[in-house]
Amino acid sequence: MKRLQRLRKNQWTRDLTATTEFNVAQLIQPLFVVEGLSQDQDIPGLKGNRRLTLQSSLKQVESDLEAGVRNFILFGVPQAKMGTPRSFQSTAQTVKEIKSRFGGAANLWVDTCLCSYTDHGHCCVFHQSGSRDHVGTLKALETMALELASAGADGISPSDMMDGRVAKIRSALDQAGFEDTPIMSYSTKFSSQFYGPFRAAADSAPQFGDRTQYQIDVRNRNDAIAASRRCAEEGADLLMVKPGMTAIDLIKPIHEQTGLAVGAYQVSGEYASLVLLEKEGLINFEKALQETWQVFKRAGAQFIITYGARFGRQLGVRG
Ligand code: PBG
Ligand code: ZN
Repeated sequence: MKRLQRLRKNQWTRDLTATTEFNVAQLIQPLFVVEGLSQDQDIPGLKGNRRLTLQSSLKQVESDLEAGVRNFILFGVPQAKMGTPRSFQSTAQTVKEIKSRFGGAANLWVDTCLCSYTDHGHCCVFHQSGSRDHVGTLKALETMALELASAGADGISPSDMMDGRVAKIRSALDQAGFEDTPIMSYSTKFSSQFYGPFRAAADSAPQFGDRTQYQIDVRNRNDAIAASRRCAEEGADLLMVKPGMTAIDLIKPIHEQTGLAVGAYQVSGEYASLVLLEKEGLINFEKALQETWQVFKRAGAQFIITYGARFGRQLGVRG
């Protein structure tokens, strides 16, 4: 009889035959830094993550570095919102402080999108008439990317899903002398319910409508592949699928079609589902988290953005 169980019978055999392996350096830890906040705030569902003040973000990065985390993605949340954001000073200030304190020890990517800055919470700006202002949106994203790069960001990470944004940001960065600043594009980003906990943390829930006119419909595989291919053609250095779990089938095809490294974003709702299952006594959170990471790697993800990166080493991930 063919007995596949022979290779499962003890830990050393299982370790010997494992086909996935990764380390903490391939995990990216999100940070929410909120302008004008006087005290850290808990984020419902996102155990281990808080809305941070500028001061406390420095302490957080310090302890994350001690835990082996090397890559961060910053979500800057400004105090004042407006129809058409023209300055991204509070996020730029956070970048400056983190980089001047930690220098090259921390590799700081910055989420580049308008939804935390706009009073309506959309990832774009609008014309008076109410239609989407494409040119104005790209202009604002360009300004944001330049401000962040000038502040010392190690990488720009556009999450807005507007057509042409990678090309626009790439050429602006190149012209301003930031030829070496990479773009990690949220390239295959679906419209999803699983962003719920994030929107409370980043204060970015749309005040009307939803994001279905610019984020990808889960039923459209062609669009999902085309969106990443387009970002690759426009000069993205790294690609990503999001939400990670519900886009897991797309990781390999996107890599095969672009040749680029493709990461998975384990989004807030996916992470929170593990937290809440644990709260109900239904799973072991740490083991479940590890399991999901192993599956992302098995599916071909090069890196993983996860709210649990700071627990990685504690969970036995190398590095
Ligand atoms: C902003 C942005 C979102 C996320 C990352 N960047 C929310 C959205 O597009 O609605 C979601 C991340 C998460 O849920 O963890 N554009
Ligand atoms: Zn957005």
